[in-house]
Amino acid sequence: MKKITIAIDGFSSSGKSTMAKQLAKKIGYVYVDSGAMYRATTLYALRHGMTSKDSGVDTTSLIAALPDIHISFIIAPDETQHTLLNGEDVEKEIRGMEVSGWVSPVAVIPEVRHYLVELQQQYGKDKGIVMDGRDIGTTVFPDAEMKVFVQASPEVRAKRRFDELIEKGTPSDFEAVLANIKERDHIDTTRKESPLRKAEDAFVLDNDRMSRDEQMEVLLKLFEEKTRG
Ligand code: DC
Repeated sequence: MKKITIAIDGFSSSGKSTMAKQLAKKIGYVYVDSGAMYRATTLYALRHGMTSKDSGVDTTSLIAALPDIHISFIIAPDETQHTLLNGEDVEKEIRGMEVSGWVSPVAVIPEVRHYLVELQQQYGKDKGIVMDGRDIGTTVFPDAEMKVFVQASPEVRAKRRFDELIEKGTPSDFEAVLANIKERDHIDTTRKESPLRKAEDAFVLDNDRMSRDEQMEVLLKLFEEKTRG
């Protein structure tokens, strides 16, 4: 069967990562979480004092530091994928509220995007990959054979994120989580460089009222259509 490229884009906490991970496992493809790469870059900026409440992100210093930011992935013994920043496992830290609060302003910086997009394209050069993010079907892999755009209401997404944070042992305030999601939606869709938008040839998956199994069924059917013949 021919190998294809699968791009899954959508809003924050729309469930696209879980879906992309499950799909990759099922069809034996590599999974890459592009959001984790923006998050790890943000963590680097936070740790190196490149963010301040008053003046935002120190763009000049962050751009200068890009060659020192090395991001990779490993499969942990429990079979989950972990993100490494310069060799250190930062999976837990990049999911916290501090990184979530700073990641959108970092992700608007064109040089950061170019650096990470190039890395993402390298990961996908042999196809057989499922990548999720915001601009995968539009910018990273515009020729991807299968493109999916996932959407759900902000409230449903905030509830998912809220439950996820509790599960991870870092409970947060629901209203703060909802506000963060709405703010990120705004920044992600209105930024100049590769804003979040549906690729013309993407399949829209509205998963407000869909179970994981139902979503997987839809994705597998689509995959079958795209790889047939
Ligand atoms: O998918 P996520 O919530 O982990 O992504 C974190 C942030 O990274 C999100 O607010 C927008 C940004 N992002 C992006 O700009 N482009 C991508 N391809 C993936 C994520």
